[in-house]
Amino acid sequence: MREGEAEQVINFFKAREMNAKLVDAADEFFDALKGFVDPEEKRKAFRNTFYAVLARVVREENANYLVQGTIAADVVETVKGIKTQHNILEQIGIDPGSYGLTIVEPLREIYKHEVREVARSLGLPAEFSERPPFPGPGLATRVLGEVTRERVEIERRATKIVEEETAEIESFQSMAVLMNDRATGIREGKRAFGYTIAVRLVKSTDAITAEAVNVPCEVLKRIEKRITTEIPEVVHVLYSLSDKPPATIEFQ
Ligand code: XMP
Repeated sequence: MREGEAEQVINFFKAREMNAKLVDAADEFFDALKGFVDPEEKRKAFRNTFYAVLARVVREENANYLVQGTIAADVVETVKGIKTQHNILEQIGIDPGSYGLTIVEPLREIYKHEVREVARSLGLPAEFSERPPFPGPGLATRVLGEVTRERVEIERRATKIVEEETAEIESFQSMAVLMNDRATGIREGKRAFGYTIAVRLVKSTDAITAEAVNVPCEVLKRIEKRITTEIPEVVHVLYSLSDKPPATIEFQ
């Protein structure tokens, strides 16, 4: 999750007197992702842990159903074989019952802009209905190569900077992505192999196609300065110019 996000979500429900409980399963996810670099293998390792953890919580809480926010784009992309979204089971021949779960997905047949319409018509606050999409596997989706605690922390700090600096720019999603290879840089006059962060902002309505946002150069420079100053492990910052297609919104 992003910095402070778990608390924000819990507080949103608590403020509405809904019974929300935070489950910290970070160790299980990091253990499951250990050693994987292939995006599909990482997605599958994430999916198995995700449903195993949820099945355990459902059992412990004596709940009858798992309700999740799968939307049409998740189904379409997985069925087309573009990527295995973590929340798709039945459509690719996995029985949710094998995890001991009965899953309810009320939004499965509609796209993101239609989901927002439903949220607005239910009178949900804008904080909820206008929330930018964020992938289920969270920041792990935006860490190329191995997903470790150290690398996710770098990604989390870069994400915070990008989100702060682009808050006023209209976009569907705004993100930082941690690249896999080390790049050569200079720190204190000496060679320093560091990380590369890619910044990506896209416009979209349904997440099936997207267009890279024309971010003003001075904003990009500000992001670059903050990232390389506040995160010394990073020595290069890039901007992604690619639309979807041929790129996808996320890098993996
Ligand atoms: P892509 O990268 O496929 O993303 O162009 C389309 C939309 O889906 C989100 N996304 C995911 N959401 N589980 C999710 O819940 C996933 O595994 C996943 N992968 C991508 C992405 O953020 C974008 O909104």
